[in-house]
Amino acid sequence: MMNTLRQHAEQLFAHELDELQKADTRQRPTNWNLSPWAVATYLLGGRLDNGFEVSAKYIGNRRVIEIAVATLVTDRALLLYGVPGTAKSWVSEHLAAAISGDSTRLVQGTAGTSEEQMRYGWNYALLLSKGPSKEALVPSPLMKAMSDGRIARVEELTRIPADVQDTLITILSEKTLPIPELSSEAQANRGFNVIATANNRDKGVNELSSALKRRFNTVVLPVPATEAEEIAIVTKRVGEMGKALELPSEPPALKEVRRIVQVFRELRDGQTADGKTKLKQPTGTMSTAEAISVLNSGIALAAHFGDGTLRAGDVAAGLVGAIIKDPVQDVVVWKEYLETVVKERDDWKDLYRACREVI
Ligand SMILES: Nc1ncnc2c1ncn2[C@@H]1O[C@H](COP(=O)(O)OP(=O)(O)OP(=O)(O)O)[C@@H](O)[C@H]1O
Ligand SMILES: [Mg+2]
Repeated sequence: MMNTLRQHAEQLFAHELDELQKADTRQRPTNWNLSPWAVATYLLGGRLDNGFEVSAKYIGNRRVIEIAVATLVTDRALLLYGVPGTAKSWVSEHLAAAISGDSTRLVQGTAGTSEEQMRYGWNYALLLSKGPSKEALVPSPLMKAMSDGRIARVEELTRIPADVQDTLITILSEKTLPIPELSSEAQANRGFNVIATANNRDKGVNELSSALKRRFNTVVLPVPATEAEEIAIVTKRVGEMGKALELPSEPPALKEVRRIVQVFRELRDGQTADGKTKLKQPTGTMSTAEAISVLNSGIALAAHFGDGTLRAGDVAAGLVGAIIKDPVQDVVVWKEYLETVVKERDDWKDLYRACREVI
C-alpha cells in the first residue's frame, strides 16, 4: 500500500468513511454502507456531531450532489454528464466508495469495449475441458456488482459502440443478465445500480439510444460558476496531488494560481474578466482539470530544476501546451491573447516574457 501510485478513494479516505459510518444514524438503503445524507456529506464535506471534520471532495452546487445521490436509491441509473474536467469521474469514484465501500467495479468505455466486458466472458481452459458451467464463467464488473448488490461504474459511456451500450438496457430495466449458454440468468440484488459518465466534447461519440437514455437520470456537472470557486478547487487539488506525488516544493502562491485560473477562464469565456475585450477561443476545452495539471507540472519543474518556488517560467510551457491543441488555429488565438492581454497587465510582465520564450 505504501508504494501505490494512486490509491482508490475508499483507501485514501478510509478514516473519513469510518467516522461517517459511526456517526451516521439515519436509515441506510439495503447494502448501502451509509445513508444518503452521509454520502452527500462525504462528497460535500461538513462537520459531524462529534466535531469530526469531513473534507469536501466536490466543490460546487450542493443540490447537484443531492440529486445524484437521490437518483441512486431509485430504480434509475445515474449519468454524470458535462464538458471535460468537471469532476465526473471523480464524483463517480467517490459516490461508489461512499455507498459501496468499493469504487473498483468499473468498466472503462472505449471504442473497443466489447459485449463480454459488459456481460461476462469465459475461462477458455475450463470451457474447453468441461463445457459451459458456472465455474467457467468470468463475470464482468457489472455482473459482480449485480450479485453483490453494489454500485458499478461505466466510464465514458458514449465512447462505447451503440450495440454494446444497449446491453445495459436489460440490466437496468429488468435488473437481470441473461446467460443463454447456461439457460439461466443472474439477478441483481438490492443496492445494485450504475453510475455512468460521459462528456459532450468527445469526437466520434455514440449517442445513447432513447431506450437507454430513459433508464438514466442525467445530472450535468457544470464548469465552476465563479473564479473564486475555481481557484478554491485548483488550490485544493494541487495541494493534495503535490503531497501524493511527493513534490518537495512549497505549494504555489495564491497569486500564481489566480493568474492561471484567470487565463483559463478568459479564454474559455471568450472575453477578459472585466468584460471589456472580446477574445478568440481556443479549440481545446480549457478545463479546470487542465489548470490543475499546468500547476502540477510547474511545481515539478520548480522543485527539481528551480529553487522550489513556482515562477512564471515554470508554468509557461504547461500553459502553452494546454492552450495550443491545434497547431494552426490555436497559435493565432494564443498570440493574440498574449500580445493584447498578458503584455498589457502590469504585474504579468514575467508571465509575458516566459511565454514568449516558449513559442
Ligand atoms: N467542482 C470540483 N470539485 C472538486 N474537484 C474538481 C472539480 N472540478 C474539477 N475537479 C478536479 O478536476 C480533476 C479532473 O476531474 P475528472 O477527471 O473527474 O474530470 P471528468 O469530468 O471525468 O473529465 P473527462 O470528461 O475528461 O473524463 C480532478 O482532480 C478533480 O478533483
Ligand atoms: Mg472522466
